[in-house]
Amino acid sequence: MEEAPELTPGVVHVWYAGLTAHPSELVRHEAVLSSDEWSRVRRIRDPEAARRFVVRRGLLRHLLARYLGAPPQALVLCQGRQGKPALARPWSQHNLHFSLSDSGDLAVYAFAIGHPLGVDLERLRPVARGIALARRHFSPGEQTWLQAQPPERWEEAFLRCWTCKEAVVKAVGSGLTVPLQEISVAHWEDPPRVTWPSQEGRWRIQLLESPPGYLAALALPAERPLTPQVHWVEGASLPEFSAQGPLPPGR
Ligand SMILES: CC(C)(COP(=O)(O)OP(=O)(O)OC[C@H]1O[C@@H](n2cnc3c(N)ncnc32)[C@H](O)[C@@H]1OP(=O)(O)O)[C@@H](O)C(=O)NCCC(=O)NCCS
Repeated sequence: MEEAPELTPGVVHVWYAGLTAHPSELVRHEAVLSSDEWSRVRRIRDPEAARRFVVRRGLLRHLLARYLGAPPQALVLCQGRQGKPALARPWSQHNLHFSLSDSGDLAVYAFAIGHPLGVDLERLRPVARGIALARRHFSPGEQTWLQAQPPERWEEAFLRCWTCKEAVVKAVGSGLTVPLQEISVAHWEDPPRVTWPSQEGRWRIQLLESPPGYLAALALPAERPLTPQVHWVEGASLPEFSAQGPLPPGR
C-alpha cells in the first residue's frame, strides 16, 4: 500500500482499491471480519458478491486500522438505522468518519476527521431503464441538463447525476429512504451546487479524479474548505496495523 500522509482536520483521504484479491489477500481479509460481517457474508447467495463483500470490508478494516493504530479485527463497527456504517465505542471517540462504495472491480473509500462525508463510485456502463429512472429520481433541472447531452454522452451524464445524488444520501446516511428528485445537483454550474430543501446549504459536491471507465463523487459539508487527497491501495502490500500511530481521540 502506498504510504499515507497523516489524516488531519481539513483533509479528506480517498483510497481506490481493486476488488480482485489474490487468494493470499483474501485470507487476510477473511481473518479480520467480525461475526456480524460473517453473518452478512452467509446471507449473500451469489459467491462472487460474497467474495467482493469480504474484500471490501477487509480493506475497510485495514484502512481504518492504519488511522487508529489498532488491529483491524479489533475494530467495532455499527450501522445507522438506514445502514450507514460507523465506528462504535470505544473507536468512535476518534471522530473518524468514513464512507465507501464499489462498482465493477473497484472500491473507493473516503475518510475525514470531525465531519460526515459520502462517496459514490459508478463504472461507466449501459444503464437499464435509464430514462425511466431519470424521470422518477432526477430533479426537473437535472432532467433538462440530461436531455441536452449528446446521445453518446447520455449514460455518462446519467451516471454522473446518479453518483452525485448517492454521495449526498450517503453523507446524510439516509440511503434511498429520501425522495431522490428533491436532491438536485446543478451540473451546469461550476462548482455544481447542491439544493435539497430539507438540508439546504449543508452539502457540496466534489467530482473526484477517477480511473478510466469510472466516475466518482464526494459529498462534503459545504462550509468547510476541505482538500481531497487521492491514494491507491495495492492489496498485496497492505501494511500491518502498527504502520502508523493512532489518532488522538476527539479531534
Ligand atoms: C445502499 C446504498 C446507500 C448504496 O448502494 P449501492 O450504490 O448499491 O452500493 P455502494 O457500493 O455504492 O455502497 C455500498 C456501501 O454503502 C454504505 N451504506 C449502506 N447504507 C448506507 C447509508 N444509509 N448511508 C451511507 N452509507 C451507506 C455501506 O458501507 C455499503 O457497504 P457495505 O455493504 O460494505 O456495508 C443505496 O443508496 C442504494 O441501495 N442504492 C441503489 C443503487 C441503484 O439502484 N443504482 C441503480 C442506478 S445506477
